Amino acid sequence: MCGIVGYIGSREAYPILVKGLKRLEYRGYDSAGVALISNADQQLNVYKAKGKVSELESFVESKDISGKIGIAHTRWATHGEPCSANAHPHYSSSETLALIHNGIIENYAVLKENLQAKGYEFKSSTDTEVLVQLIEYIKVTNNLDLLTAVQLALQEVIGAYAIAVVEKDHPEQIIAARKSSPLVVGIGEDEYFLASDATPIVEYTDKVVYLNDEEIAVINRGEELKIVDLHNVEITPDVKTVVMNIGQLEKGGYPHFMLKEIFEQPDCILDCMRGRVNVEGTNVVLSAVIDHKERLIKAKRFVIVACGTSWHAALIGKHLIESFCRIPVEVEYASEFRYRDPVIDEQDVVLAISQSGETADTLAAVELAKSRGAFIYGICNAIGSSIPRATNTGSYIHVGPEIGVASTKAFTGQVTVLTMLALTLAKEKNTISEKEYLEIVQELNHIPEKMKQVLELNKQIAELSKIFTYAHNFIYLGRGYSYPVALEGALKLKEISYIHAEGYPAAEMKHGPIALIDAEMPVVVIATHNGLYEKVLSNIQEIKARKGKVIAIVSEGDTIIKNIADICIELPTTLECLDPLITTVPLQMLAYHIAVCKGMDVDQPRNLAKSVTVE
Ligand code: F6R
Repeated sequence: MCGIVGYIGSREAYPILVKGLKRLEYRGYDSAGVALISNADQQLNVYKAKGKVSELESFVESKDISGKIGIAHTRWATHGEPCSANAHPHYSSSETLALIHNGIIENYAVLKENLQAKGYEFKSSTDTEVLVQLIEYIKVTNNLDLLTAVQLALQEVIGAYAIAVVEKDHPEQIIAARKSSPLVVGIGEDEYFLASDATPIVEYTDKVVYLNDEEIAVINRGEELKIVDLHNVEITPDVKTVVMNIGQLEKGGYPHFMLKEIFEQPDCILDCMRGRVNVEGTNVVLSAVIDHKERLIKAKRFVIVACGTSWHAALIGKHLIESFCRIPVEVEYASEFRYRDPVIDEQDVVLAISQSGETADTLAAVELAKSRGAFIYGICNAIGSSIPRATNTGSYIHVGPEIGVASTKAFTGQVTVLTMLALTLAKEKNTISEKEYLEIVQELNHIPEKMKQVLELNKQIAELSKIFTYAHNFIYLGRGYSYPVALEGALKLKEISYIHAEGYPAAEMKHGPIALIDAEMPVVVIATHNGLYEKVLSNIQEIKARKGKVIAIVSEGDTIIKNIADICIELPTTLECLDPLITTVPLQMLAYHIAVCKGMDVDQPRNLAKSVTVE
């Protein structure tokens, strides 16, 4: 939610900032803006435009965009509608300070009232403008430098922030701070970069510092990076090396990131398993499980906290861990868990699943569980993000940066890690037979190949998608391991095509939703040869009896459902517990192609942002 970028050095800042904003557009694309201190006359120029970064580029065409220092922002609106006035950066009243912000200042209303009483006027309806005015007020009234004013202002703030501030008369300095919203400083040769994540930074330097909560980066041109806390206690920067391939941040010839990421999945699963499954394909070791096996084995239960697609992966994790490890598992929406005063203690293990590692609710759920003594295990994608840093241990999914707003490869990566976690722990606990263990590990090795076969269906799925652009509603059905897949298929469709879609456990149909079925209603049914095939077959019959249009996801060679369903998508067979890794892929493609047929903005659907760092 909102992306922020900053630069100070000897190059022109604008091209670096705009390129960085484009990398961060997945975090929000309601409006964009930039602040630059110009080379010739040291003006603090702020330019803003409603809409995507490309709108900002058009807006600045005839403007002075010179400057070797600047900050920039791409917004996902929280307080105040998307418009130029509410776009960041925000000026202070005297227009000598400019500030960008990701997060929410919860007590902004009180702070605003106090400042208004002192004569301050506001041009926007954002919480952010309050912060820049507060900094200016504290600075001017007490005759302080910018750093001290920021420190004092942040002591008055309740809420979440990643901010960067520049001052007209000090073109040699950026002050940046974070609390509960991510912020990374990149250290180059005589230059510094600043961003919400490392993606805008990696093509210039691989040396980064991830700021921790309530840390302030004092970034001075030509000086060492200094980090202090709100009370000016100095903290030694923990410089990390990031490894990221720039190609992963480009579309690589695909029309959309989402399609590229769907097609990357076989390689992602291989990357995810690399070094964890042995070359013979007979053994799987997730080192975090081995390192903490005593703690995990003695757990009274596992609680998995997550949101959205990651929550769907969690439901599959519950099946896997309960089946193979015989440990009870509860799956919780992080947003509900954190406010429910849940019964949780030191005998519990909490798994936190998050692609971005920044989801505010999941992070808060982790903090709550930690404060009650639970052992926290993270399953994340973004290296160095907040959730992995808050956990006791964890396993990265290693699928590379996911840029399409609709999650695809992260889901299959999460399911792969959950499978490896369940297998490693089950072996340690002795709750799985050697035969079954070996069968699953060997089959896991075949998943990337089988996924490739599924991807060959892309043309067929693109064709059949054209039939369904008329639909206003869709139902997705599955049972057992396929129920979370049905939920995920429905979520993918609704978020990028804006078609209303619901996922149900197939047998629940007759308890209500079957009333929705008519000749207009497409029903996607996951009906592979595994699990409750006969039962799902009956569910299909019930839908056909009411003239619903059935799109069945079946196993290769299925002849029975082929005769009943309107459309069949045939997939290679696998073991029941690995089915989601295969059956999810055609549902991703179906959602993608329907959205493309409808002319939707697949990578940046309306109202959404990839990294949900606000509640
Ligand atoms: C859907 C989607 C979201 C995320 C959710 C959690 O395609 O991407 O539902 O899954 O916002 O995000 P993470 O996994 O980053 O915590």
